[in-house]
Amino acid sequence: MKNAAYFKDKVIIVTGASSGIGLASARLFYSYGAKVVMAARSIDKMLAEAEGKENILCVKTDVSVEADCRALVEVAVARWGRIDILVNNAGLSMRAMFKDLDLEVIKRLMDVNFWGTVYCTKYALPYLLESKGQVAGVISIAGYSALPARTGYSSSKYAIRGFLDTVRIEHLKDGLNVLVFAPGYTSSNVRKAALTADGSAQGETPLKEDNLMSAERCAEYLAKGLRTRRSEMILTPLGKATVWMQKRFPRLLDKLTYWYISRESDSPFK
Ligand SMILES: NC(=O)c1ccc[n+]([C@@H]2O[C@H](COP(=O)([O-])OP(=O)(O)OC[C@H]3O[C@@H](n4cnc5c(N)ncnc54)[C@H](OP(=O)(O)O)[C@@H]3O)[C@@H](O)[C@H]2O)c1
Repeated sequence: MKNAAYFKDKVIIVTGASSGIGLASARLFYSYGAKVVMAARSIDKMLAEAEGKENILCVKTDVSVEADCRALVEVAVARWGRIDILVNNAGLSMRAMFKDLDLEVIKRLMDVNFWGTVYCTKYALPYLLESKGQVAGVISIAGYSALPARTGYSSSKYAIRGFLDTVRIEHLKDGLNVLVFAPGYTSSNVRKAALTADGSAQGETPLKEDNLMSAERCAEYLAKGLRTRRSEMILTPLGKATVWMQKRFPRLLDKLTYWYISRESDSPFK
């Protein structure tokens, strides 16, 4: 009820809305009466989702392309005249040791995760300032605490956090809220789409996806974080414990992380 009252008629852009957390979030915001702009490359999947729904706009967007991000914002404003919330959710992961890695993989992850967030935020910012709205970045626990075999992923998520934390301070007196949103392990396509050492998709997941938080539950937390205008949200008991350990016992956490990743099926340490 509180969410419906808050989100009704708000114009919300969600990047990476064709799958997982982004799709679940777009559906949730729509169910609360928001005007939702879905952005991703898989336009057919988004159009199927939007069929028969007047308040959903689908925009084919590759967030690593600056012109696409600018067009996304322009199309949203042309349709609804304002932007209240931008959720920078589009993301790509990887799984390979740095010593084996084609450097193009790190460049690709920075282009999608970091630069995608920077481009969309840049073009949406004037409208968000006008509406005294919100920008959110979906990072990860890996944006606080490094994950082996994910150099590009952790780097991009740390970078997004630094970027958004800075934007928050720059606009502290302007009524803009900036939310750094860090899910823990969540069931989605992210691990199957993750890039391997040569840049090809991994195609499988090392985790039991059914045991993870659902994308729908994660979207509910995101909605709560936005409604209450939080500046930071860290999910799952494991995620919270990891961030706490990183601040207080970072070298012990290195050892625990090594042990944890060693237990993954097909671990990079084996
Ligand atoms: N699942 C987890 O365990 C987890 C944990 C922490 C954080 N996260 C973060 O949550 C976010 C969403 O991931 P997810 O778990 O929902 O994974 P997912 O199911 O793989 O969804 C990723 C989304 O990003 C989009 N995307 C990828 N490259 C893109 C590009 N170049 N331009 C535009 N969109 C692009 C994909 O759409 P197209 O392929 O159609 O473009 C898709 O909609 C990511 O930022 C991820 O890092 C996930």
